[in-house]
Parts: sequence; structure tokens; C-alpha cells
Amino acid sequence: MLSYVIEGKNKIEGEVKASGSKNAALPIIATAILNPEPVTFYNIPDIEDTRITLKILKLLGCKVIMNSGKITISSKEMHNKIIPKDLMHKLRSTVVLAGAILGRFKEATFSYPGGCNIGKRPIDLHLKAFKDLGVEIEEKEDYIHCKAKKELIGTKIKLGFPSVGATENIILASVYCKGVTHILNAAKEPEIQDLAKCLNKMGAKVYGAGTSRITICGVKKLHKTDYKIMTDRIETGTLLCAAAITNGRVKIENANPENLLNVLYKLKEIGCKISITKNSIFLTAPKILKSTNIETMPYPGFPTDMQPIIGAVLTKAKGTSIIKENIFENRFKYALDLKKMGANIIFKEENAIEITGESKLKGETVSSADLRGGAALVLAGLSASGKTRVENAEYILRGYENLEKKLKKLGANIILEKVV
Ligand code: EPZ
Repeated sequence: MLSYVIEGKNKIEGEVKASGSKNAALPIIATAILNPEPVTFYNIPDIEDTRITLKILKLLGCKVIMNSGKITISSKEMHNKIIPKDLMHKLRSTVVLAGAILGRFKEATFSYPGGCNIGKRPIDLHLKAFKDLGVEIEEKEDYIHCKAKKELIGTKIKLGFPSVGATENIILASVYCKGVTHILNAAKEPEIQDLAKCLNKMGAKVYGAGTSRITICGVKKLHKTDYKIMTDRIETGTLLCAAAITNGRVKIENANPENLLNVLYKLKEIGCKISITKNSIFLTAPKILKSTNIETMPYPGFPTDMQPIIGAVLTKAKGTSIIKENIFENRFKYALDLKKMGANIIFKEENAIEITGESKLKGETVSSADLRGGAALVLAGLSASGKTRVENAEYILRGYENLEKKLKKLGANIILEKVV
């Protein structure tokens, strides 16, 4: 079992580079299935989620060459259209591979990715969209068999919720469709814009990414391409919050402030001084943080992935803060461990918590229940007096590349401990 062990109270100070975006890397890796020509991606983070995704591509028959953040993939010889059940369950975001397989081969077989610790996370919107594209779906022995009669037919698809994964899956499945697909009420996240930029560089025709209406004109083929993916905006926000919770100051050297405006706005509201350039963010924390209220919303609203992270910060803020989680039904588990560390948190109706600061957190042994909740506990440990052990660190390693190295460089007393 892996744990982060932190001696708290050190200020986070200095300059650091964030890694490539986990949530852009996963759908962009899926484009290699669509494109039979060799593709090379740069800035792919070396984390568990990307490793599992690349392992699945190899199982499907793709040639994958990894060389630190540079990944070259050729799917010319790809033969297998079935995503293994055990790997689907390990990583829910593999569902976007289904859209790519369907787009390339007009058939795909996969299983329900299963929920995770933050919610049920169904895929009904994905399956309905595939049906709209003329795909026949049959469920047998907990596998989902998708097959188009001849080809996928472009159509108008209105999403009941601006689902990030469903939007990505429809784009991937529609790249070679007959005619044109319009997605209404599409998700607008920056990772979707990065996916569209990558596909268009390959020769696809995806218009309107970043707005709620995306149009995909079917093309006949894609060509050899290389592409550098965007910086991880949630890791950027996490590193900024590490400085905020320790009264520190940090410069993220390769961040795009455009992708985090709502988070920067909230950090300013609680008293942080923020200065930005086109590709960097500099934050100086105040001596005493002010409380605020947070409502998670689809982009460009406050991102649900930053909810646990800012929740840890707000335990240090003077006054009462309310956090309302509107995207996932079970994303407050980390708050139980923050309470164990001395935070004053009340669970409210309607999927909300009330945090009253400013708490003096004390080091404890706590446990990650999910990726971002675990990161929130690491930040709480940076600020707590004494030693904090964050167990089940495997969750955190899924989405943060070399987190302890980055925090150590910024002054933290943190190690990643392996207990056999
Ligand atoms: C993506 O998940 C991200 N993951 C999540 O990041 C992120 O929290 C989420 O988008 C929202 O921004 C990746 O990109 C790999 P959704 P996704 O479909 O696509 C419901 C992290 O920590 N829904 O936008 O699964 C769903 O249950 C992760 O990096 C349906 O009801 O999110 C949820 O309540 C966590 N039916 C809401 O929509 C569907 O068919 C948002 O889900 C699909 C989704």
C-alpha cells in the first residue's frame, strides 16, 4: 500500500511546472484508434490512468512506444474491438475508447465501466447517442455489443446533461460518419477543445468545441500527426491551493489561466493575490483567508474536480463557507477525514457541506477514498501541525504525476512511502 507521509507547517513557495492534462490525454489517446496512420503525442502525463489506457490499446493490437511524455501509437494492425471487462472496471474513462472503436470499425464491444467512489456515473447518454447515430446495441452477459448496419449516420444529438465523456464519445464516433453530426447541449470543457484541435490537426472536421453546439462533418480519412496536449488545469489548481492553504506563494510556469478563470476568481475572493501572463499564474496567499461559497457547475462554472481541493483550503478560512456539489452525488468523503484532522464541517441537505474556520488542523492518519479527495487530504497535511499519513495514495497517483517531487521542490516535507 502506498501512503504520502507529510510533516506539516512548511510554506509552499517557489516555481513549478504542471504536467500534461489527464482528462485531455485519455480522449486524445483514443484518437489513435480512429487514425490508422502513426500518431505521436507529447506532454502525456506518466500516471496510472494513462498507463492503463495505453495497456488497453496494446491489447487491442496497437503498437505503442512510450518515451517519457512522448507516446507514438500505430493502430494499423489493430484487430480487436472488445475492451476487456476487467480493465473497463479499473478505469471508467475507457468508455471513450468505445466511441473511437465504433468510429473506426463501425462496431465495438465493451462493458459498463461501473461507478466509482464519487457516484454511479451511468453511461446512458453515451448509449443513447450511439443509437441516434444508427448503431444497434445489444446487451449480453454484461457486455454491450454495438454495431452499425453499414456506417454511422450523422444526426442531431441533444444531450440531457452536458456530459464531458458523452460529448467526447460522440465526437470520436462521428469523425468518419456519413453526413454531419450536431451535438446540442455539449460540454464546453477545455479538454474537449484540446481533443477537437488534435482531431482537426489529423484532418477531421470538428467545429464549435468549447461551445454548447458542436458540429462534426464526416471525413474519409485522417493523416499522420503529432500533437502536444494541454497542461492539466486541475493539477494547476491543486498546486495553487497548496500555496493558499500554507500561506505561501507559488508560480505555475506553464499554466493557461483561461482554463481556470472561475477557480482564480474564487482564490482572489478568499484573499489570494493572483497575477497572470498568457502561460503562467502567480499566487500569493494572505495571512488570513476569507470564507466564500462554492457551487460546482459544468464548465465554465467552478469545476467539480476542484471541489475537494478548495474544501481543504476553506477549513483555514475565517468564517463560514458553504460548498454545494451539483455534478456528482458522493464527492464529500474527504470531509470526514478533514473533520478527523480538526476541521469544523457540517454535512447539509442537498449534497452540501458547511465549513467554519479557521481550524488549526492536526496531523492524523487518513485515507484517500478517491483521486481529488485524496489530493485534498495531502493539502490538509501540508497545513496541519505534526505528521499526516494519507493512505491509499494509489488513488492520487492515478491523476497526479510526481506530486511529492513537485511539492518537495516547493518546500514541503513529504515522502511517498511504500508499505509491503
Ligand atoms: C469527466 O468525467 C472527468 N473525467 C471527471 O474528472 C470530471 O469530474 C467530469 O468529467 C465532470 O467535469 C475525465 O475526463 C476522464 P460527465 P465524466 O459525463 O465524463 C452524469 C477527475 O477527478 N452522467 O460530465 O465521467 C454523471 O453521473 C475526474 O479527474 C449521466 O447521468 O463526467 C455525472 O453525475 C472525476 N449519464 C454527470 O453526468 C451519462 O451517460 C457528469 O458526468 C454520463 C454522465
